[in-house]
Amino acid sequence: MNWQIAIDGPASAGKSTIAKILASNLGYIYVDTGAMYRTVTLAVKRAHIDYNDESKVIELLDKINIDFEPDVSGQRVFLNHDDVTEEIRSNEITNNVSQVAAYADVRTDLVERQRQLAQEANIIMDGRDIGTTVLPLAQVKIFLVASVDERAQRRYKENMAKGMTANLETLKADIALRDYKDSHRAISPLIQADDAILVDTTGHSIEEVVTEITAIINDRQKK
Ligand code: DC
Repeated sequence: MNWQIAIDGPASAGKSTIAKILASNLGYIYVDTGAMYRTVTLAVKRAHIDYNDESKVIELLDKINIDFEPDVSGQRVFLNHDDVTEEIRSNEITNNVSQVAAYADVRTDLVERQRQLAQEANIIMDGRDIGTTVLPLAQVKIFLVASVDERAQRRYKENMAKGMTANLETLKADIALRDYKDSHRAISPLIQADDAILVDTTGHSIEEVVTEITAIINDRQKK
């Protein structure tokens, strides 16, 4: 079996930053499953379908191709060959993705695509349900967390750096609401897998977290 490293956790805990660095250090493929849910959400928006219209959203799935391509900053995301890397991070998509990600058929479809990607190479996959549902046999499972305050601060800085408007209190409320929706949905809610290792990044630098997780991976690979 290929090596599978699952990194789950709430929004803005640092999953994608850490996963990208680990993937580059190890020479593994990085799969950002949140980007896949975001891409479906963008496709719904572009098709002028109401996010609440579950059957229309599901009908659209067959028309959605999602591809990743590596680049210097990590990777680019394509919706039917159109580069949507930046557009899937807009506030509208961020605020509606939990709704789309809660639909059972959307999850079944994307989980199938994610497992397919894991057949092809050694991978690091990040998301909410990787260790519990997508790759239950992953050799390494990390559950990455950080306080709501710290996560809001990080997103605030990211938004400012991108020239997007940001309000710290609004970001905090949005993150808390998304945590709630992701943890309370009926299918594959965000929960720590029994065999996942909890890593709290609050107050820790990216380098410290990468070092900690690299040690966990090295330990597993020796066994
Ligand atoms: O990691 P992110 O913020 O880009 O994820 C966007 C949304 O997608 C998040 O609110 C929950 C959902 N998601 C999910 O339900 N399952 C995953 N494996 C990844 C993301």
